[in-house]
Amino acid sequence: MERIAIFASGTGSNAKKIIEHLQGHPDIEVSLVVSNNKNAKVLDMARSFNIQTLVIDKAQLKDNNYILEKFSIFPINFIVLAGFLLLVPRYLVGKFPKSIVNIHPALLPQFGGKGMYGMNVHKAVKESGVKETGITIHYVNEKYDEGSIIFQASCPVLPDDTPESIAKNVLKLEHEHFAKTIERILNKNLDSVK
Ligand code: GAR
Repeated sequence: MERIAIFASGTGSNAKKIIEHLQGHPDIEVSLVVSNNKNAKVLDMARSFNIQTLVIDKAQLKDNNYILEKFSIFPINFIVLAGFLLLVPRYLVGKFPKSIVNIHPALLPQFGGKGMYGMNVHKAVKESGVKETGITIHYVNEKYDEGSIIFQASCPVLPDDTPESIAKNVLKLEHEHFAKTIERILNKNLDSVK
C-alpha cells in the first residue's frame, strides 16, 4: 500500500483534486495532510474527507524525528508538495529518495527558486515576455525547484494575459495533470523525463 502525506500551505485546490482522484483506489491512499499554517483552508478540506491533519512549525519541520514519528503511525511512504512554501529539510529528502514530488507553476528551470511561488511566479512570467508558461512536476531535493523533472505541460502566454489570467490557466493545467501523474509515478509507469 502506498500511503501519501500531502504538504500544503494554502488553499489546497491541488490537494483536493488528488484526494478526489485517489478516493477508493485499492493501492494508494492519502493518509495525512500536513500544513505549516494552522489557518490554511487545506486543513478544513482534508477534515471534510476524514483525512488526518498535522500542523507543524518551522522547528518541527527541521527536527530530525518529529515528523518521521508522526509518519510511522500510518506509515507514510510518499510525500506530495502541493503549494508547500517551506524548504524540505535534508533529513527528509534523505529518508524519502525519489519519493517526494512537488508541483511548480512554471516551466522549470525558468522562474524557480526561493521566493518564486504563487503570483510571484506569474508576475515574473508576464514581465519577462515569454510566450509560454506551464507546470512542472519534479522530484524534490534539498534545493528549491532543482530536483529532476518528471512531467511538464505548457500553455500560451498571450499579449492580453495578466498575471491573474496566467495563474488561472496554469492552475487548470495543474488540476488536469497532477493527480494522474502521481498515480503513474506510484504505479512505476513514470520516472524522470529529463
Ligand atoms: C499551485 O499553483 C502550486 O503550483 C503553487 O502554489 C499553488 C497552490 O495552489 N506552488 C508553488 O508556487 C511552489 N513554489 P493550491 O493551494 O490551490 O493547490
